[in-house]
Amino acid sequence: MGSPPSRPRFSQFPGPLPKTRERIELRRFAGHVDHEERVSHLRIAHLTDQHFGRVTPHAVQLAAVELANEQKPDLVVITGDFVCHSQAFLDQLESTLKLLDAPIIGVLGNHDHWSGASAVRKALRKAGVEVLDNAHTIVTLRNQQLQVVGIDDAYTGHADPEQAVKGLRHDLPTIGLSHIPEEADHLWELGVPLVFSGHTHAGQVTLARMHELFLGRLIGHKYVHGLYGCRTRTLGPKGAVYVGAGIGAAVVPVRIGERARRELAVFELGASAGATWEHHGEQPALPGRPPSEKTKEKRRKQLERKKRKHPPEPEAE
Ligand SMILES: [Fe+2]
Repeated sequence: MGSPPSRPRFSQFPGPLPKTRERIELRRFAGHVDHEERVSHLRIAHLTDQHFGRVTPHAVQLAAVELANEQKPDLVVITGDFVCHSQAFLDQLESTLKLLDAPIIGVLGNHDHWSGASAVRKALRKAGVEVLDNAHTIVTLRNQQLQVVGIDDAYTGHADPEQAVKGLRHDLPTIGLSHIPEEADHLWELGVPLVFSGHTHAGQVTLARMHELFLGRLIGHKYVHGLYGCRTRTLGPKGAVYVGAGIGAAVVPVRIGERARRELAVFELGASAGATWEHHGEQPALPGRPPSEKTKEKRRKQLERKKRKHPPEPEAE
């Protein structure tokens, strides 16, 4: 990873943040056994679906960054949907992410492609974020190497996991990033044992397991919120995926139910799975249903329509 642009220190945070803190849940987990064997300790903070825009107050965005900084992470990973239907809040995105006091690596989501991927990438790079578009990188954090694989958004048809792992080293501890959680199945097969993702917002309403009904049964997600898969190389899936509940919203800001709350997840790589301080353990996957050809075609047309609204800027950088 090249050296990122200099970023303001946490002490330059703009003012107090009353009443927003209790709106963000902090959930802690251990990493995969593969990390336990290869890492003494690395702390990863995971944010997703920030959706900078009108629906999500700036105070919430700042509170999320403040909470992340307080955890003193070695690395922050962000799994897409930085914006919300528009490029109008890219300055806010840039200035807020600059306040994160750790290296940042991210991947794009469907909203970023819908709103103009090149403009979002540019804002992210200006904020010091390393954006992985079907690629991987190696970062050195407190003298420990960590390999990070990032795949581009699968919802809009940009994911290419095979490309992302070309040249991947199998002697290094590795994590993966993908906006769409179901891509984890493929990444596990390619040697990525723990994948961070988002997109679902945990369903936003989790009372009476409504999120599992809506996102699982109706939309066809296997992974709706939290931890799935396996972190111990016993029988079953070859890896684990974490689906973050996200910070922002794209349509309505409603979040009802404990699981639906805005969230920062912190993963302690090097710790053993099953520790008492973990928020929860691996949950069974829902049956899931991959998108049909008709659905994929519908999504392609949706992307074309949105791209006409936000034509890409010439790549000036
Ligand atoms: Fe999304």
